[in-house]
Amino acid sequence: MEAEPAEATAVFGDRIESTRQYVDMLSSRGIEWGLLGPREAGRLWSRHVLNSAAAGGVMPEGAHVVDVGSGAGLPGVPLALARPDLGVTLLEPLLRRAEFLELAIDELGLEERVRVVRARAEDHEDVYDVVTARAVGALSKLVPWCEPLLDDGGEMLLLKGASAPEELAKAEKLLRRLRLSADVLSVRADPRSEPTTVVRLRRA
Ligand SMILES: C[S@@+](CC[C@H](N)C(=O)[O-])C[C@H]1O[C@@H](n2cnc3c(N)ncnc32)[C@H](O)[C@@H]1O
Repeated sequence: MEAEPAEATAVFGDRIESTRQYVDMLSSRGIEWGLLGPREAGRLWSRHVLNSAAAGGVMPEGAHVVDVGSGAGLPGVPLALARPDLGVTLLEPLLRRAEFLELAIDELGLEERVRVVRARAEDHEDVYDVVTARAVGALSKLVPWCEPLLDDGGEMLLLKGASAPEELAKAEKLLRRLRLSADVLSVRADPRSEPTTVVRLRRA
């Protein structure tokens, strides 16, 4: 398993023990239950946990956030651990994944600020200040699911890889039709961490 990076304590503050517990859960039950591939055990901190927490740097204070297609809790659980002011909904349609999330929230003691909703984004009716997602699909598929979940003045903060500009170009007509303006941000959980690309979409 990857050693804990030096910056983890600065990023998670007094939630560092819970974060270690979450990393342990991912590397044991997360892999046994098939939520992550066995190769991910060697890169949980850098590729998954710090990469997810980085998006917290561009989220407004006290925001209500929904993590669409949360899977094993990424990015929603690291965001809730890095930012104790956020309220987080983990939206996940698959039973096994939703059960894992319920267990994680219970074991990490996050139930006051984090909830699990077992549903598809298209069937969910609440609205949020921030809609986030990671590894759920290309923007052309994801944006029509996420846009109806935005409250007035809200924003989508979608974690992406190097394909972000290409995906934005492909989704150009859709974004124009939905009157969404786009920025590509590069954010880090800490100056020592690898950058994460975030596509920010706001109603124009
Ligand atoms: C590749 S996994 C990514 C999980 C996690 N976000 C991550 O970064 O590891 C995609 C997730 O999206 C979920 N998903 C698929 N279709 C969905 C939909 N229509 N609404 C919400 N979630 C969906 C899947 O069940 C799965 O857990």
